[in-house]
Order: sequence, then structure tokens, then C-alpha cells
Amino acid sequence: MKKNIAIILAGGIGERFGAEIPKQFVNLNGKPIISYCLETFQKHPDIHGIVVSTHEKYMQTVKELCPECILVKGGSTRQDSTFNALKACPKDTDHVLIHDAVRPFVDFPIINRCIKALEKGNIAVDTKISSNDTIIKIKTDGIISDMPDRRYLYRGQTPQAFKFKDIFDAYNEPANSDIPPTDDMRYIFNKGLPCHTVEGSEFNIKITNTADLYLAERIAQKIFRVNPNEVDLTGKKCLVFGSSGGIGGEIVQLLEEKGARVLGVGSKEFDLQRFNDYESFFQGVKNDFGWIDILINAAGVLEKEMLVNMNDNSVSKMIDINYKAPIEITRYAVRYLLKNGSSIFHLGSSSWSRGRKSYAIYSSAKAALVNFVQAMSEELEPLGININCINPPRTNTKMRQKNFPGEDLSTLMDPRAVAKEILRYCGAFGTGYIIDLKVGIE
Ligand code: CTP
Repeated sequence: MKKNIAIILAGGIGERFGAEIPKQFVNLNGKPIISYCLETFQKHPDIHGIVVSTHEKYMQTVKELCPECILVKGGSTRQDSTFNALKACPKDTDHVLIHDAVRPFVDFPIINRCIKALEKGNIAVDTKISSNDTIIKIKTDGIISDMPDRRYLYRGQTPQAFKFKDIFDAYNEPANSDIPPTDDMRYIFNKGLPCHTVEGSEFNIKITNTADLYLAERIAQKIFRVNPNEVDLTGKKCLVFGSSGGIGGEIVQLLEEKGARVLGVGSKEFDLQRFNDYESFFQGVKNDFGWIDILINAAGVLEKEMLVNMNDNSVSKMIDINYKAPIEITRYAVRYLLKNGSSIFHLGSSSWSRGRKSYAIYSSAKAALVNFVQAMSEELEPLGININCINPPRTNTKMRQKNFPGEDLSTLMDPRAVAKEILRYCGAFGTGYIIDLKVGIE
């Protein structure tokens, strides 16, 4: 078996991204961007070691994320960072896969394709995807000088994979060229040696500008969920608040269909506004039902009215059920019901990101819930407890119909379809995700 080493380049400053810290350490859905690709290479069975080139200041951070990796100082250019890493590779390295730390979504199929191509005897393998845009070449005066045929144009990604000896030699004795190297493949290309390619992926994006981070957040959410057929909850214990109807009711049914033991709690079983009774209620669940693997809080109240006309009860109820209850559910569940590996999912609302008249309290409570979940994901991480917020789109529930009479029902989502989508996240493992649910989009 050949020895494959992954080199992760994390020595850049991210000038174009413009954050206060290098972009590879910026938070993406609860963890640093670099941690995504590190985890993938760490878990891959055919990767036998990882070398990371990075700033001295961040070496400790990387060591905590990847204790087994070899750390080297990044250079002032990407090429220097690569060269430093190549020099630190174990002597018996056969292949290296050089990857940008800012491409978080490299996956097993891409890594497999690179390794396979090297094993077939290729000395250099680039990861490519087709160019969706027409590429134009312009002269300094802004006039197009050439329009290459798009069928032959591709975008290069990473990993770029090499026979170790060939890339090491090329770095030690680079060929002369007028074009400044921006990647490692050029060192082989400039030597006139063959550069093979394998297919990359549209999701294997490079985070260059802040706009890329928005796309990365959505990709991270998509990757987090699992294939519906792979959701197996046999033997899992689930507690569902808000189970008496709407999305919560559908969730209970689906969890049971997937083999879970479910305790559904509706307003008849427990009034979520009775804050003095939470302790005894959760203790009771602990005694009768035991540890919980998945807790879903689907309870919510919307009473549409302009704030000045709203009665005191409605104001309190909406703050209590939509905001205070998630806090107390989380607090007591962590104390009594959850263990390492358990997950909490709070259901928010797509309205969290934009306040609108007549439901100011509802949507602002949902916005607060998002912030609360983000903060709690950091607090609960050391306990191994996951917490996420799923924001369903406008859904055809009784609550919706009551508040928006006459609405065109064909524009609303079916509660069962929404519950099915939520179930895909119940089968996954992750924390700190704010998932703005899209139904029917793969
Ligand atoms: N890189 C590196 N050492 C450098 C420069 C870049 O290891 N001296 C790494 C980056 O950390 C990144 C990858 O190369 O993972 C791709 O480079 P790029 O996106 O250009 O990152 P930056 O150089 O950080 O960005 P900018 O050019 O905007 O400063």
C-alpha cells in the first residue's frame, strides 16, 4: 500500500476576504473553515498523514483540531507554504494531495479519484470542473483578443495530487517560465510533464470573498443532512414538544416509522407556560422514559395583531412559548435527559431574518432563538450535545390558516413534506447549524 500524505495550505492572510483573522479560521456554521477539510482527510482510510502549513499564531488552533498532524510554518507565498510542507513530509511518502484549507467541501469521491489516478501511474493529477461561463481574453485596452472554445475550458480546484518525488524535484528545480505560478500543478506543467485530471465538484468551492461564505453556509447545511433512506432511528428515544398537530404531529409519526420510541408532548400533557413545573416535569420524563437521543421542540404560537392593539396575554404567550420555553427546555433537558451524542432541534421560522408588521413578537422571538442556538452550541460542545435550529418555510398548518385566512394554499408547504425534510437532519450528526429549510431541492 502506497503512503498518501495530505498537505493543507493554511498560510494565507485572506486579503480579499477582508476579515480580521485569516479566512481559513473564520467560523462556518459553528466551526473554523479549515476544520471541515481536516476532518475529511482525517477520516479518509487511505490518507496516512497530514501536514499543515500555517501561521505560527494559529499552530495551537490547528493542533487542537488535528492533534496527529505535522505543523510547519507557512511561507510568504502559497508556493513557499507548499515547499515548507513538502520538506516536512515523511521520508517514505509516495503521494501527496495538496489542498487549500479554504475549500471545506472536498469529499471522499474526489480524494478517491485522485488516489486512483496516481495508483494507475500518473505523476500529477489535477481536480477540475467544467467552465459554466464563457471565458474571454482581453487586451490591456479592454478589447477582447480571444474567445477560447468553452468545450475545452475547465476550472482547476484542489486537491492537486502528485507522486511525491516528482513534485519535490520540480520545487527544488523549477523550470523557467514567464507565467507566475498560482498553484502546484504549474510546476509539473512547466517541466513539460503530463498532468492528468479527474472530476471535482461544484460544491468544492474556494472561499475567496465574503460572498463565498454565504454559499458555503448553505452547502454546509446540505451536507449535514442525510439521505432519507439512510435515516434509521431503531432503538432511539425521542421527545417531541408541540406534538399535538401541525409539523410536530407529522414528526412524531415519521420518527415512529423510522423505528424510534417517541414521547410526544402537546399542550394537554404539559403547559409550556408553567415555568415553575419544568423541573418536576423533566425529572418525571427521566424516571419514566430515561435518556433521550433526540429532542425536537416544535411548539410555537403566532397571534397576528398590531402590537399596540395586542392584549397582555397574547404578548406574554408569544414570548413565553416562542422564546422562554426553548431556553427552559434546553436548560432542563441538558440537566436531566441528554447525554453525550444527544441532539436538540428547535424549530424556528423563516420569518426570523426579517421582521414584519403584525407579528413583531413572533418573528423577533424566532430571531432570538437563532442567536440562542448559536451560543448554546458553543456551551454544549464540550458535553458532546448537539443543538441546531431548523427554520421551516411557510407551511400549511392550522396556525397558519387561522392567522392568514384566504391565503393561496398552493403557495404553502405540506406539513408532512416539511417533517420529512426535518427527519433527514435527525439522522445526521452536527451542531450549531441554522437551517433555513428548503423543501424539494436536492
Ligand atoms: N496560502 C498559503 N500560504 C500563502 C498564501 C496562501 O498557505 N502564503 C493558502 C491559503 O491559506 C489558502 C490557499 O493557499 O488556503 C488558497 O489561497 P487564496 O485563496 O489565494 O488565499 P489567501 O492568499 O489567503 O487570499 P488572498 O490572496 O485574498 O490574500
